[in-house]
Amino acid sequence: MEYIVKDIKLAEKGKKSIEWAENHMPVLMEIRKRFQEEKPLKDIKIGACLHVTKETAVLIRTLKAGGADIALTASNPLSTQDDVAAALASEGIRVYAIKGETREEYYKFIEMVLENEPIITIDDGADLVTTLHKGKGNINTVIGGTEETTTGVLRLKAMADKKLLKYPIIAVNNAETKWDFDNIYGTGQSTIDGILRATNILIAGKKFVVAGYGHCGKGIAIRAKGMGARVIVTEVDPIKALKAVMDGFDVMPMREAAKHGDIFVTATGNKNVIRREHIELMKDGAILANAGHFNVEIDINALEEMKKEKRKINDFTDEYILNDGRKIYLLAEGRLVNLVAAEGHPSEVMDMSFSNQALCIEYIVKNYHKLEPKVYDVPREIDEEIARLKLKKMGIEIDTMTEEQINYIKTWWEGT
Ligand code: ADE
Repeated sequence: MEYIVKDIKLAEKGKKSIEWAENHMPVLMEIRKRFQEEKPLKDIKIGACLHVTKETAVLIRTLKAGGADIALTASNPLSTQDDVAAALASEGIRVYAIKGETREEYYKFIEMVLENEPIITIDDGADLVTTLHKGKGNINTVIGGTEETTTGVLRLKAMADKKLLKYPIIAVNNAETKWDFDNIYGTGQSTIDGILRATNILIAGKKFVVAGYGHCGKGIAIRAKGMGARVIVTEVDPIKALKAVMDGFDVMPMREAAKHGDIFVTATGNKNVIRREHIELMKDGAILANAGHFNVEIDINALEEMKKEKRKINDFTDEYILNDGRKIYLLAEGRLVNLVAAEGHPSEVMDMSFSNQALCIEYIVKNYHKLEPKVYDVPREIDEEIARLKLKKMGIEIDTMTEEQINYIKTWWEGT
């Protein structure tokens, strides 16, 4: 089948939204210009499982300009921008994605991407790669892949540790030009955006609990603080907890934070971080949202068991009335609130993340015969090139080292 989208008539709207993203993704557009001329991906079949957003469309158009043949599906059942999916379908991309698709459809669409027999995979969360490793599609012809997010990288490393990973994958997530920007500023801003679009709650003065102080949690905490919230961080990692303390946040266990919070956001990558014992302690009116990749961080089953009644307040907010009369609000059904209730990370940060994707895919095509079935970091040259280009596009100049300085940092005998 050529495509499965909600409504192909949404294509014109989607094209305008993609054009907006293109105007804010200058680095990727520069790469596209070169790809158009050099065709480094000529006849390369790519299978992609990404959030189907306007920014993803800019990446897909860039890969197509490089000569690739692409099939795309969503990396989350609720994150698809249906107009964007329609626009891509109208341009000849095999897109299988509908916002609100069922879990069964989600995996069926992944299988449809694999039926196109990609030789390169692009994944966000590793569902495409794990489905391929569970026997769907033809893994033997795959030469390599990339992974966009922390959760996916952790899953792939677990596979590699057990010697189960069958082809090389570059952890795009771990590039400095990705996680130091996308995860911090992208997740930070868009998570607040999602909470506001769902609730329009005043952040100032609220007790805002962030579970997890990795790159994403840190981004959310600093943005919430910037809007006047009193931020509490919960952690299991002593080093991250210490960083949160020294960044000026209150740190305490969830069993304590649960009593104080007005708004809770999970960003840990782990499951049941907010569970029954915590919900039992929460204030009437507490709002729960998740910014981690999977919908496992808030124990929704516990909420379901504890409820007397449930109402939909709007598209992204469910009200759970508990047996004791307290109301607890769950946003975006516990899925990524920034992508479900808002539009995901802004184009300017996805510019760097997806430039890493484009250049790493080109790198795989050129170097796959030298790579082993393990998880690789993004080559340093790619990371630095993206930073250089981004600064240039932002009109910012930096210093260069003098000859004397270059020599100085290479020596060890000169002291005070
Ligand atoms: N992940 C987070 N934000 C995203 C976006 N805007 N597009 C694609 N993937 C994303």
